[in-house]
Amino acid sequence: MSTPHGTALVTGASSGIGAAYAQRLAAAGWDTVLVARRAQRLDDLAQRLREATGTTVETLVADLSDPGDLARVTRRAAGDDIGFLLNNAGINGYGPFGELEEDLMTKVLGINVLAVTALTRAAVPGMLARGRGTVVNVASLLAFAGALPPHPLPERAVYGGTKGYVVTFTRTLAAELAGTPLRIQVLCPGLTATEFHRSRGDQPVPGRDPSVHEDGGMPVDRVVDASLAALDAGEVVCVPGLGDRALVDDLARAELAIRTAARRGGD
Ligand SMILES: NC(=O)c1ccc[n+]([C@@H]2O[C@H](COP(=O)([O-])OP(=O)(O)OC[C@H]3O[C@@H](n4cnc5c(N)ncnc54)[C@H](OP(=O)(O)O)[C@@H]3O)[C@@H](O)[C@H]2O)c1
Repeated sequence: MSTPHGTALVTGASSGIGAAYAQRLAAAGWDTVLVARRAQRLDDLAQRLREATGTTVETLVADLSDPGDLARVTRRAAGDDIGFLLNNAGINGYGPFGELEEDLMTKVLGINVLAVTALTRAAVPGMLARGRGTVVNVASLLAFAGALPPHPLPERAVYGGTKGYVVTFTRTLAAELAGTPLRIQVLCPGLTATEFHRSRGDQPVPGRDPSVHEDGGMPVDRVVDASLAALDAGEVVCVPGLGDRALVDDLARAELAIRTAARRGGD
């Protein structure tokens, strides 16, 4: 039997932010579809969620960089029970740009950009027709200032670019859907304590701890807390740990001032 909430589809649910978010959604009564490549991890989480919450949990083992797998997940995201989409799966592909393998570059773009866009495109029409729905896309703090001095983070051009896409895509879509009942958010965590920095893509980085980022980072539950609170507050851009929310408004004002001034300059 489905819950009153409907179903939440969570990509990258086998670890880190996605697993924590799926847990919170299930605890709040959502049925869930857990998507990732590691079947055993998904099965273990599904079992825990069913036992703890009594909700219905599906697992969908898929590699989002594979067109056939992405098509399968896209079809599920278009299901008429989907009320929440969390586009969370992501890989980093860090390394000197000139040495980035073409295959890894394609995977980073496929998972971080194409899959996010395709799944959102699949889910939104049904959400609009049903008059409710939530889309949360996970970007990164890196999208805002990753390249800026005094502490630019090198070797992240493609990753930073994909996360910049997710920020712009989500903000622009949110503007288009303003006035509809849909809630749209881009979640921009800073360094978070997950397995994320263990690998660049498919293979672990030699010598890295297999479970936790070597520099620590924000606990995943705080990232999820921030996202859920921002949804309640109707905020499109969520930056966990940012005490002064007015800074996001300052950024928007600065962008608008640049656009306005550039238009005047073009007269
Ligand atoms: N950790 C940080 O410091 C940090 C900071 C800012 C933003 N983020 C963003 O947060 C999101 C979640 O990352 P995380 O920190 O929670 O890292 P994580 O623990 O490594 O989780 C990444 C998730 O993505 C899934 N995934 C990776 N490649 C996939 C593929 N080809 N197909 C399907 N699923 C795939 C992984 O599952 P499988 O391996 O089982 O497929 C895993 O569930 C990412 O978008 C990341 O860019 C992380």
